[in-house]
Amino acid sequence: MGNRIYLDNAATTPMDSRVVEVMTSMMNEVWANPSSIHQDGVAARSNIEEARLKIASLFKAEPSEIFFTSGATESINLLIKSVIDGLKISRIITSQLEHPAVLESVRNIALEKNVPVTFIPFDIDGHINLSFLEQTLGQNPNSLVALMHANNELGNLLPLKKVANLCHENGAYFFSDTVQSVGKFPMDFSQCFLDFAVGSAHKFHGAKGIGFLYIRKGIKINPLLFGGAQERNMRAGTENLPAIVGMAEALRIAYSEMPEITKHLTFLKEFLVNRIKDELPFVEFNGDINGIHSIINLALPLTHFKKMIIFSLDVAGISVSGGSACSSGVMNISHVIKALGRDKDYVPVRISFSKYNSLDDVNRLVDLLIKYGKKMV
Ligand SMILES: Cc1ncc(COP(=O)(O)O)c(C=O)c1O
Repeated sequence: MGNRIYLDNAATTPMDSRVVEVMTSMMNEVWANPSSIHQDGVAARSNIEEARLKIASLFKAEPSEIFFTSGATESINLLIKSVIDGLKISRIITSQLEHPAVLESVRNIALEKNVPVTFIPFDIDGHINLSFLEQTLGQNPNSLVALMHANNELGNLLPLKKVANLCHENGAYFFSDTVQSVGKFPMDFSQCFLDFAVGSAHKFHGAKGIGFLYIRKGIKINPLLFGGAQERNMRAGTENLPAIVGMAEALRIAYSEMPEITKHLTFLKEFLVNRIKDELPFVEFNGDINGIHSIINLALPLTHFKKMIIFSLDVAGISVSGGSACSSGVMNISHVIKALGRDKDYVPVRISFSKYNSLDDVNRLVDLLIKYGKKMV
């Protein structure tokens, strides 16, 4: 992408060249169908199972708890649509701040199966009201709670252990959309905080179109796709071997570099927040600035900035997001920013970092914001 600055890593991340290398070698050398019973097929199968073992051991999970899918959207659809009948779920409890993959899956299955849905309220900074959750859980045993770990637009973090305890004390199942935190936090599934979790390789420098669903041991749900017996009958279809092996490599790298990357991104985020506070004091923040180290969401007041600021930054060579990826090329104000009631007087600008960003990137962004912001004063 030339010398452009890419600050939209919550949408997707550039691939790590080591992942590309592993995937290329798989594509060149291990192309047999993993379901074939000849030696070529057996070799392909063993690569998949090795990848599953690697991923499971990083999460301190069991290999049988990891199911490969085409990404988080498929994992989420599979889970939400299957659990209702499979686990006799009587209510879904979620929030309007979830990703559309969750909201739309919930909306569809709720209509189809006539399952009531409760949306948990949140404060102005997007913190989920846990007392309300506790109350709702108390009145609705056998609910499914779907609340994300790191919000993809705001960066807000949910206290996973606390929510898991509330769910389990009240006989509910807990699914957390962990897409934005997998590879950034040392997730430990052995602690049994979560009944279900998901991941998508392209959010941690792997390929697009590959992800997983974690289902805690002992929980049985039905498949969404029917066909072959792949993924222990949970996900029919020939496996995407290079992408699966690449995902395991991406996760291995993420875990091995996690302390330094966390430190680097925390530094970049704090530096950005401090420069904004000092030099653009009229700029506010959407969400909790103490959320995940990879995401910060600025609320630029329309008194100082043009609505088209994101396009101006783009033209100047900086890729950021308006809050959510625009579908079919149309920029819509994000449902999260709308839900927070901050869509009228401010332009949301989500900045999301990866290990490939530098201090220079942050300085160039803030310098441009100062340039564009001052013009309006
Ligand atoms: C929080 C969250 N959940 C789910 C998804 C969907 O992931 P995928 O597009 O890889 O299916 C995303 C991607 O933006 C996300 O950020």
